[in-house]
Amino acid sequence: MFKKIVLLLITGVSVTSMGIAGCTTQQQDLEAQAKPPTLTGQTEAPAATTQPQERPGDVPYVPTPQPVVDAMLQVAKVGKNDVLYDLGSGDGRIVITAAQKYGTRGVGIDIDPERIQEANANAQKAGVTDRAQFRQQDLFKTDLSQATVITLYLLPEVNQKLRPELLKLKPGTRIVSHAFDMGDWQPQQTLQVDGKTIYYWVVPKEVPANLR
Ligand SMILES: C[S@@+](CC[C@H](N)C(=O)[O-])C[C@H]1O[C@@H](n2cnc3c(N)ncnc32)[C@H](O)[C@@H]1O
Repeated sequence: MFKKIVLLLITGVSVTSMGIAGCTTQQQDLEAQAKPPTLTGQTEAPAATTQPQERPGDVPYVPTPQPVVDAMLQVAKVGKNDVLYDLGSGDGRIVITAAQKYGTRGVGIDIDPERIQEANANAQKAGVTDRAQFRQQDLFKTDLSQATVITLYLLPEVNQKLRPELLKLKPGTRIVSHAFDMGDWQPQQTLQVDGKTIYYWVVPKEVPANLR
C-alpha cells in the first residue's frame, strides 16, 4: 500500500512539472513571436532565417566598389541618428560600412537568401550586428516609413518603378543611387567616383505634379 502511494505521488509530480515546463516554453515562444524586431539592443547576429527565394530578383548581384560606398555615405551625410535602408543589399557592404564608420542603424533588404546569409555573416565579422539587420524581402513590398536615408544600386526601370513610393516618404528623406538616375526627378547633386556616377536627392515637401 505504502509503495502504491509513493508511486502515485511520484507520477503526479512528474506530470505537473512537465505541464509547467511545457507552458513556460510555449509562453517564451509566444513572447518571442510577439516582440517586434528591434535594431537597438540587438547583441547577437540573428539566426539564419532565410526561406527559398519567392521569385527571381529584378537586378543581378553586382557589388558597389568600396570607394563608391564611402562616397555615397558621405554625400548623404549619414550619422548615428539615421536609419538607412539599402534596397537590394547584396553582401551588406553599404549598411555595414555605415554602421562601422558612422554608428548608423541600417536595414538591408534582399530577395536572395544567399545574399542575406552572406550579409549576416559579414555583419557578424564586422561586429555591427547591434546596428545592422538584413531581411529577406522584396524591396517593392518593404515598409520604408522608418528610413531617413535610402541607398540604391538597381536598374533604371527599377528606380522608375520605385520613384512614386520614394516620393511618398517623409520630406527630408535622403536618397542615394549608384549608377542610375530617376528620370524626370532631377538630383540635387551628382558626383563621379572612380568612373562611377552617384546621384543624390532629398524628398521634397511638395511633390511636383509631373512626378506624381
Ligand atoms: C546590383 S546589386 C547591389 C548590391 C548592394 N546594394 C551594393 O551596392 O553593393 C542588387 C541587389 O538587389 C537584389 N534584388 C534584386 N531584386 C530585388 C527585389 N525585388 N527585392 C529585393 N532585392 C532585390 C539582388 O539580389 C542584388 O543583391
